[in-house]
Amino acid sequence: MEIQYNNKGSVIFNFNLFFLCFTVVAAILLCLMLYPEKATSGPYLDSVHGSSSYGVNRTSLSAFGYSKGNCAHCHEQHALIGGSEPNPTGGPDKYVLFYTNHISQTDNFCFKCHTDVSSYQTGGLVNRSYSYRAGGYSDTLNDILEAFSFTSPSTSHNLDDIITFITTKSWGYTDDSNPCAACHNPHMAKGDPANAGSSTKSSGTRDYSPVSLPSLHSKDNNAWGLWGDNIPIATERMSNYTAGYQAPYRSGGSTYEPDGSTTTNGSNLVDFVTFCTDCHDNSNSIWSTTLGGNLKTIDWNIEKHGKGVSDGLDGAGGIRSPYSTTDKVLACTDCHEPHGAPNVVLIRKEVNGGTLSGQITTLTTLLNKELGYLCNRCHTEDTPGSNNWAGVHHNDVFPIACGGSSPDLICHGIIAGDWACRTCSRCHYHGAVVTDGTYSRRTF
Ligand code: HEC
Ligand code: HEC
Ligand code: HEC
Ligand code: HEC
Ligand code: HEC
Ligand code: HEC
Ligand code: HEC
Repeated sequence: MEIQYNNKGSVIFNFNLFFLCFTVVAAILLCLMLYPEKATSGPYLDSVHGSSSYGVNRTSLSAFGYSKGNCAHCHEQHALIGGSEPNPTGGPDKYVLFYTNHISQTDNFCFKCHTDVSSYQTGGLVNRSYSYRAGGYSDTLNDILEAFSFTSPSTSHNLDDIITFITTKSWGYTDDSNPCAACHNPHMAKGDPANAGSSTKSSGTRDYSPVSLPSLHSKDNNAWGLWGDNIPIATERMSNYTAGYQAPYRSGGSTYEPDGSTTTNGSNLVDFVTFCTDCHDNSNSIWSTTLGGNLKTIDWNIEKHGKGVSDGLDGAGGIRSPYSTTDKVLACTDCHEPHGAPNVVLIRKEVNGGTLSGQITTLTTLLNKELGYLCNRCHTEDTPGSNNWAGVHHNDVFPIACGGSSPDLICHGIIAGDWACRTCSRCHYHGAVVTDGTYSRRTF
């Protein structure tokens, strides 16, 4: 059976339509039968997908009277009922979804709506980067598929690697799981802000939270709560750290992330340290196709750009406003995008109120100091805008002279001669310690 349209987009009546109407009604009934309390009450109706005013609304279904937010915009019961199905055909797939849960980095159930090209959602969907929503940076990126489509030297979180990793944990995921569901509960997620179009987060439009903690995942989707909403525990925000949190500036430099208010202690920011380190901890073995190896395992408790404390920021360099020399915890999202970014290792395009002055395309090439574009968003280089860092390195003109003429043959144990001591990321990376016996410092 086929649904036929005339050239004005109206359905042409044929005997199949009768059968289709029957199918639709039966599908709704079945949905209510299978999941009575879930469809009419509970957290789903508070979720962004379940909203009756701006929730899921697949064009090919709404044409037949399905209301916004109905489960059937994502799940199809046709396999159980028989008959045919609205666009797209070919399903239903695992979890009776209208499309295969996950195929590849650019082909996934969620992308069928979360794209700006031929979205199944009536009216389409606009989504943005974290730099845009929280940082107020006017990024042109406007959909999720685009964010996951970045390729070298830009980067995106690799969805196949995420599936591989989460199925190694006993968190209730299987090969049939959706990698987006590693971080988002499709039945609970809220927009922050919801129904926001092209707006940035603002203190009046917050709705915590889009994300859930992977390790708390449960197949009972009502049991897998959100992370950041302070329910059931009141410790899901950055303000929870004793060391304190300092919010970076939002673009322009007069208000703060994430919502352009004057709040700076992180009481309005999801605890992204706990969220990201749920996977990126000091023991999980995580394969990265992009980096061609296992990720480093990192003890975030002692990382200066994590939960650890600095040695006093006593270098000749300075720290930029709004940061001060007081020890602070940093949030992973202060520097990283969660989905994709135009730099290596998911480094944001905009950090602490301003855009990076150039693209970071490599961390390893000899004599490369592109990483300085990130550092100088928060630390001060020799002259503003110069990206020269002699002042914090014994007045060694960069490329750092170790290996040039003596006496500076070795810089803090880093031996000259290879790309090593001439590239920022030889000494500055998560987990880095430089030591030459008498001197030992954690350098990131
Ligand atoms: C590694 C965890 C992770 C994965 C995997 C992930 N996301 Fe996200 N997502 C996030 C975080 C973190 C945010 C930002 C939350 C915030 O703004 O508070 C986000 C934000 C979003 C938003 C809101 C964007 C906006 O416009 O405000 C959407 C929509 C979204 N994700 C969809 C997806 C889809 C679809 C996938 C799979 C293709 C996916 N995410 C995979 C962590 C993840
Ligand atoms: C935005 C699309 C979307 C909507 C709307 C939606 N679901 Fe789902 N549902 C999914 C996805 C995706 C999965 C698979 C989750 C995974 O990959 O881990 C799923 C899984 C499920 C599962 C299996 C749970 C599990 O993890 O084994 C049930 C049951 C379910 N949904 C019921 C419902 C009901 C009932 C509604 C309406 C109240 C609903 N869904 C609305 C996308 C949706
Ligand atoms: C049938 C279309 C459809 C599908 C499929 C779909 N979404 Fe959505 N999604 C929506 C709509 C509609 C919104 C609400 C947009 C708004 O706030 O106006 C939304 C919002 C979201 C949000 C909250 C941020 C925001 O933009 O408001 C997240 C997170 C999200 N979706 C994740 C996912 C994930 C993960 C999947 C796949 C498991 C998925 N969605 C599949 C239609 C869809
Ligand atoms: C988002 C702002 C931000 C960015 C970007 C940033 N830093 Fe930092 N950095 C800080 C803050 C804040 C501290 C102090 C942390 C603390 O109190 O524990 C710090 C501390 C340090 C320290 C420790 C100094 C000491 O005295 O112990 C070093 C070294 C350092 N940063 C190097 C770098 C390098 C190299 C880069 C670029 C790759 C960089 N930082 C990027 C904010 C930033
Ligand atoms: C001050 C900015 C900054 C902050 C804050 C930050 N990162 Fe990074 N991150 C970087 C830079 C620069 C690199 C590249 C150097 C390296 O590999 O460590 C990187 C690399 C990474 C990598 C790839 C490591 C590998 O094995 O190659 C991961 C994973 C990562 N960060 C996760 C996190 C998490 C999780 C947090 C929060 C707990 C965080 N980052 C906080 C700047 C930052
Ligand atoms: C569900 C587990 C999971 C969570 C949660 C998670 N990641 Fe990852 N991350 C991975 C996996 C798997 C990889 C390896 C694949 C890849 O390189 O993209 C990875 C890779 C990375 C990389 C290296 C990417 C590259 O291509 O160089 C960075 C940086 C990173 N993650 C940062 C973050 C940040 C920041 C957060 C929190 C917003 C986060 N991750 C949350 C699983 C996770
Ligand atoms: C041979 C190793 C090495 C190389 C290469 C190197 N640094 Fe450093 N850097 C250090 C050490 C050691 C410190 C002092 C750390 C401390 O104060 O705890 C430092 C400190 C810093 C600081 C923090 C200053 C402060 O306020 O305390 C910044 C920012 C920085 N370096 C940026 C860079 C940049 C950008 C590059 C590349 C252009 C670079 N470094 C290359 C070893 C190195």
